[in-house]
Amino acid sequence: MAPQLLWIGLGNMGRGMVKNLVEKGNLEKPLLLYNRTRKRSEDVASTLPAGKTEIIDSIEEGVKRADVIFVILSNDAAVEKVFDTILKVDVAGKLFVECSTIHPDTAQKVADLVAEKGGGFVASPVFGAPAAAEAGQLVFVPAGKKSAIDKIRPYIKGVMGRAEIPFNDQPPANSLKLKLLGNTFIVNMVTVLGEGFATAEKIGIGTDPLKQFVDQLYGGIYSAYSGRMLSGTYWKMEEPLFSANNALKDAGHASNLAKSAGAELKLLGVSQDYLKSVAEHAGGDKGDIAGIYGAARKNCGLKFENDA
Ligand SMILES: NC(=O)c1ccc[n+]([C@@H]2O[C@H](COP(=O)([O-])OP(=O)(O)OC[C@H]3O[C@@H](n4cnc5c(N)ncnc54)[C@H](OP(=O)(O)O)[C@@H]3O)[C@@H](O)[C@H]2O)c1
Repeated sequence: MAPQLLWIGLGNMGRGMVKNLVEKGNLEKPLLLYNRTRKRSEDVASTLPAGKTEIIDSIEEGVKRADVIFVILSNDAAVEKVFDTILKVDVAGKLFVECSTIHPDTAQKVADLVAEKGGGFVASPVFGAPAAAEAGQLVFVPAGKKSAIDKIRPYIKGVMGRAEIPFNDQPPANSLKLKLLGNTFIVNMVTVLGEGFATAEKIGIGTDPLKQFVDQLYGGIYSAYSGRMLSGTYWKMEEPLFSANNALKDAGHASNLAKSAGAELKLLGVSQDYLKSVAEHAGGDKGDIAGIYGAARKNCGLKFENDA
């Protein structure tokens, strides 16, 4: 029998993932949607064909009805809180797919609690910005029993994602370790760009030639983040695409993870300082990671907001 799917968490990432799951996932039953703020479920449901989704008002009700439950929430505290509620229900035989970026220890703890009650657990954080989620182009990093990962493969490649980096038959914590390390590449790249554009202005060449250099030599995500900076999107946007708080959470976890293993991520410390400055200026939940450009501008005597 076709599995019943439930989705918990319709933030920046969840919204795009759900769109692709509904449009391309060949679901035989309406996708159950739960979000803490119901309005977000209503907004998502209203953009999808009638009868393809069903809004659920309590996590318990959704979990009771579902066989496979996807979860993507802001941080560790949210994930632990939601799983506290989930575990009030009989989860035996159900499969949980936890996509949030959280500390590996949190993922392992939740996985163990689910396993104790007879449920299955795959930790599958994702690489890619909200635009990639919307376009079904995420890179999934699933870890857990291979038999469990196989069950969610029909929803990954060609549906919500373009690729996967699997940790078959490995502890859930391993995928989070890669995810956190990978995110240090992203935040440090944003720092290189932000400092670079601020400096280009100060030394008198302006940002345009540097943007051309970035486009010619790097392109891809480098060009996308440059655009978010130079167009002023980083200070004009109503809601962040990757909030300063979420980026600080990821960086804090990565730094602790490295330290606990006797390694050091020195460069990340610089990015963390910039992110703190973004959070102070714009608010941790409002400021976007591309605001590192604004923080770098402030550091060299320019206004946080550019003239775009
Ligand atoms: N944005 C990115 O570029 C990106 C890329 C890859 C991975 N990620 C990771 O993906 C996850 C989600 O990111 P996002 O950008 O989608 O975040 P977001 O837009 O801030 O959405 C957060 C979601 O978590 C829910 N939530 C927060 N606290 C909760 C609580 N205590 N109980 C129940 N629900 C709670 C929110 O519900 P409400 O609607 O009620 O607030 C919302 O659905 C994060 O772990 C992030 O690090 C983000």
